Parts: sequence; structure tokens; C-alpha cells
Amino acid sequence: MNSKNNEYDRADFQGLYQGKSLISSVEITAVPWDIGNAQPVVCEILRSDLPGKLLDVGCGLGHNARAAADMGYIVTAIDSAPTAIKSCQKRQSKEQIRFRVANACETELNEKFDMILDSATYHAIPFSDRIAYMKEMHRLANDKTEYHVITFAPSHHGMPKPLAIELSQIADTAEKSGWQIEAVSRVEYKGNAEAIIDFCEKKNLTILLDEAGHTRLPSWHIILKTII
Ligand SMILES: C[S@@+](CC[C@H](N)C(=O)[O-])C[C@H]1O[C@@H](n2cnc3c(N)ncnc32)[C@H](O)[C@@H]1O
Repeated sequence: MNSKNNEYDRADFQGLYQGKSLISSVEITAVPWDIGNAQPVVCEILRSDLPGKLLDVGCGLGHNARAAADMGYIVTAIDSAPTAIKSCQKRQSKEQIRFRVANACETELNEKFDMILDSATYHAIPFSDRIAYMKEMHRLANDKTEYHVITFAPSHHGMPKPLAIELSQIADTAEKSGWQIEAVSRVEYKGNAEAIIDFCEKKNLTILLDEAGHTRLPSWHIILKTII
């Protein structure tokens, strides 16, 4: 498969953080995943474990990373978009967070993490790079690491394919990269509804909103452990 096979694979994350459109065929110029706070589902995950060393991969504007640091995690947060990381560094108030520009497929980090958090990053990585990405996460894991992946799931009220991904496809990529599925559940990833008005219209999407006006995007929460 070609490495930039569809318009989602060609999404311009750095451009978005500079005010351009994320996808060329529609207007998305506000950050769709910026709800001003950490994702509720991420807070639940963070509360479910004892704080340790956490890697937040594809950290975006850093809300999840800051929530983790507030709960006592020692956080390394990476994103490939330099403008996102600059904004995170400006808002950094805690010593236990390190924000870095890095490609998730080749981070150049040389340490192991107790938890790896992927909050809506998996579906942002082109299909053809996903094995390299998961292998890189495997390199940063030990046999106790929990790797949490939250990614769009196919649903009538969800994101279109191939942005929404079948579980079997994720399982296949994970197994080829040294990971096995420990648990799977359906969750909601919240987003900024106004940012995707044009996208929803052009793609005929019927996305549901919560009482705060945030999008309720059907997603998988997959917990992975290394294959021993
Ligand atoms: C949908 S956003 C999610 C942001 C954040 N995790 C959240 O939940 O608010 C995906 C993020 O992944 C980043 N990203 C995409 N490809 C990446 C890569 N290869 N390496 C690191 N970050 C990447 C994008 O710049 C973007 O900030």
C-alpha cells in the first residue's frame, strides 16, 4: 500500500496547529480534539493505575499529559507537530512533564515506560506506518507495560472509514508488532463539534453531542501487553 493512500493519511497536523485546514477537501481549521481539558476516558484510565512513567504519544495540545502529571505520573509527551509542542512547553507548569517533538514511529527515546497512552493517535498515523509505530512502542515497553490505544471505531454515529478502524485490523497490526490484546471496550472520545461542521456536512455524518455540546465519537479502548 502507498504510504499516503487517502486524504486522512495526508492530514496536515502541523498546518492545523498553525491555522490551516487539517484535510484539504473540507474546512477544519479549529483543533477538533481540543475540548479545553483532558479526555474523560483518559482520566478514567489514569485513575485506574498506580502512577508511574508514562509516555503520551501524539500528545497534541497536552491536556492529557498535564492531567497525568497532576495525578503524579512522570510524563514524557511527544508529538510530530512542532507548533503543538511549542504551545505545550509554553503552558508547562510541572517539572514532571517533558514535551518533545518526535515521530511516534522513530522516537529516538531510550527508556522504558510503565504506561503508554495513545489518545486518538493510532488513526492519525498512515496505515502503512502502523506496524513501525507499534514496534517502536514495543521497544519502549517492558513485560509489565500497559499500552492503551483509543481509536475511532466503525459506528453509524461515528467517523467514516478508514478513519474508523475495524478491531480485527488493529489486532493484526498489534500482533505483528509484538503486542497482544488484554482487554477491549467501547468508549467515547470527545471533540469540538464546531471544528467539524463542514466535515460532517460534506461526509453526511450524524455525530451525536453530549450535554456540553462536545461530539461523542464512538471509539475502541484497547489495552495491549507485550507478547512474552
Ligand atoms: C487526533 S490528535 C490527538 C491529540 C491528543 N492525543 C488528544 O487526545 O487530545 C493526533 C495527534 O497525533 C499527532 N501525530 C500524528 N502523527 C504522528 C506521528 N507520526 N508521531 C507523533 N505524533 C503524531 C498529531 O500531530 C496530533 O497532535
